Amino acid sequence: MKIAQLDIENPFILAPLAGITNLPFRQMIKSCGCGLVCSEMVSANGLVYGSSKTMDYLISDVNEKPVSFQIFGSHPEIMADAAQIVESKGADIVDINLGCSVRKVLKTGSGAALMGDYQKAETIFQAVRQAVRIPVTIKIRSGWDASGADAIEISLIAQSCGIDAIAIHPRTARQAFGGKADWRIIRKLKKMLTIPVIGNGDVDTPDKAFQMISETGCDAVMIGRAAVYNPWLFKQIIARYHQDPQPDISLVDRFNDISVYIDRSIATMGEIRACRLMRSRLGWFTKGLPNSSRFRDGITKVENREQVQQLLWNYYHDIHTSCASQEDCATNKVDFF
Ligand SMILES: Cc1cc2nc3c(=O)[nH]c(=O)nc-3n(C[C@H](O)[C@H](O)[C@H](O)COP(=O)(O)O)c2cc1C
Repeated sequence: MKIAQLDIENPFILAPLAGITNLPFRQMIKSCGCGLVCSEMVSANGLVYGSSKTMDYLISDVNEKPVSFQIFGSHPEIMADAAQIVESKGADIVDINLGCSVRKVLKTGSGAALMGDYQKAETIFQAVRQAVRIPVTIKIRSGWDASGADAIEISLIAQSCGIDAIAIHPRTARQAFGGKADWRIIRKLKKMLTIPVIGNGDVDTPDKAFQMISETGCDAVMIGRAAVYNPWLFKQIIARYHQDPQPDISLVDRFNDISVYIDRSIATMGEIRACRLMRSRLGWFTKGLPNSSRFRDGITKVENREQVQQLLWNYYHDIHTSCASQEDCATNKVDFF
């Protein structure tokens, strides 16, 4: 698929997830074949007023490309300046957040607040579009009521301002993550718009990814929460997309991926911060494995790389020796999820 002039190898996209989709996580997902990875939302104010902590969110690497960086804010000029910073750091796409419904963000008129302020949204779209040459996309929700009227209105405005693609998570702002995503709204947008529509919400298996495409006609599928527990989902989906046999994602492959993720996290954020983060992260990746709660208890105190890697590989050997046969471990027969 294409977003404006940018080629995307396949239509399966990692959603922006605050606190999660940093460079090491994006690299892990990219190595599973994902077509496009997205950063977590980054404050436009933080970028423009030079907060070094905020600038760290823009750390990227060639091996994750193409990459989209998402910004949030409510001031058109600041959003335009932030988009230029994002472009200057080598982003392939700049994405505007109109979906975040956290009170702190809504209070500033950013995120999902823009779904109810069409005029402000339009001014931001125009300002950002004029400020950069890379594709500009937006990520929206249904809006403030379940009909999806805001999504329709905002999408038409966005398209007329030259926005290059729209990702929609069809839940209302009030719904947060409750209930079910209403895929009928994705279908409505797809019928109405000429720019690509990226569907998002509740995809956690290869079946659901292809069901979303067939039910809505969307151009691409974006996956968030399921990727956190099962980064390898992208491998399965992309194999099906290419009509290849389902890949054997062996136990040792998964542990190797986790091990590389640990080392990349240390390289990106330093050993102390990375090891603290691993206390929760490794629990997510190993959810559903035999004795995973014992492993999770063990990692709550890790302080350095050696401890983390040792615990990880000890755990691997525990599972490996308890496998019924070597063959069970080599293939995908240890139930992960
Ligand atoms: C922990 C978490 C953080 C999120 N952070 C962002 C974000 O920074 N920007 C954004 O547009 N959406 C964010 N979202 C929403 C997701 O991108 C996605 O729209 C939502 O999770 C629905 O997709 P899913 O069912 O595949 O998870 C976040 C969701 C979660 C659970």
